[in-house]
Amino acid sequence: MKWVLGIESSCDETGVAVVGYEPGNHCTPVLGAHALHSQIDMHQAYGGVVPELASRDHIRRVLPLTQEVLNASGLKLADIDVVAYTRGPGLAGALLVGAGVASALAAALDRPVMGVHHLEGHLLSPFLSADAPAFPFVALLVSGGHTQLMAVDSLGCYRILGETIDDAAGEAFDKSAKLMGLPYPGGPALARLANDGDPQAFKLPRPLLHSGDLDFSFAGLKTAVLTQTQKLGDQLPERKADLAASTQAAIVEVLTKKTMAALAQTGVDRLVVAGGVGANQRLRQALSEACQKRRVRVHYPELHLCTDNGAMIAMAAALRLQAGLEQAQRDYAFDVRPRWPLDEGLGAIPS
Ligand code: KG4
Ligand code: ZN
Repeated sequence: MKWVLGIESSCDETGVAVVGYEPGNHCTPVLGAHALHSQIDMHQAYGGVVPELASRDHIRRVLPLTQEVLNASGLKLADIDVVAYTRGPGLAGALLVGAGVASALAAALDRPVMGVHHLEGHLLSPFLSADAPAFPFVALLVSGGHTQLMAVDSLGCYRILGETIDDAAGEAFDKSAKLMGLPYPGGPALARLANDGDPQAFKLPRPLLHSGDLDFSFAGLKTAVLTQTQKLGDQLPERKADLAASTQAAIVEVLTKKTMAALAQTGVDRLVVAGGVGANQRLRQALSEACQKRRVRVHYPELHLCTDNGAMIAMAAALRLQAGLEQAQRDYAFDVRPRWPLDEGLGAIPS
């Protein structure tokens, strides 16, 4: 068994994990242990992520979390065979912490180091669940910064079928929540409030629902939510749950319909849902119902592994190494890619 130590530090979560794999073997790599520190409490006062604070906090957390993971897995640093880190996309300063620590650890241990694409980590995170997917599949990647539908033919072969032309689904949740006065991060807060509301109370736009392609647009929805909050004025507090439910319903309907269109278009009968918004229960319910009707198998990451974590980074590295798709490097001159399209430099095919 070879062990990969994975470090995630692209945004507001410091995640560390160890994943074990057998080289040349086709068994899915296994998670040894993972540990996570969320910076939500620290950023909450500012209503969003403050990049410089994020970087500084990653520095404080990353080594204690590494020790925690080693203790939990019964491994020693010397047992680590490869050190992996999130190379991008994400906040430059935050990424540099993970890249720097991973490269320094690897150099000190005389082990190779490997940069991982954050979105590939999300995409492959369902491989950490008991019901791991098989290739090929269609992936719906819905995070705070990205909304993409992808045809995944095999490991590293990612063809973008459609993506957002403005805000990401997570941003639509977060910005709408902010307009309703909900705390950061808005997605989970809006989803909780929506449980008490009527999803049909407000008629909100379903942008690009009938555009005939697989692209998304959520900026108009945010504007419609803003208009509604202004119209409601003093009535907002008593109608907030209805507005939250209606907003969630609009986002979920567009995501579900476009995903089903992507499945129909590709003829693929397997779906993977990944990224922070994949934790949304209403989205899971709508996708599961639609997939059941079409006899499509749907795979989700475990709930706690939907948002950023180190396990998905270690898993993506282990899958690549196991498949012989990539060699880890012994060149410790690291760099980061704050903007890094998933279909570039990963052996992927652009649309
Ligand atoms: O994947 P992620 O942790 O970070 C990025 O790579 O962007 O996703 C974070 C996003 C945030 O926009 C957050 O509000 C959203 O995922 N999110 C949710 C839920 N949990 C997290 N949105 C809706 N419902 C949820 N339950
Ligand atoms: Zn993410």
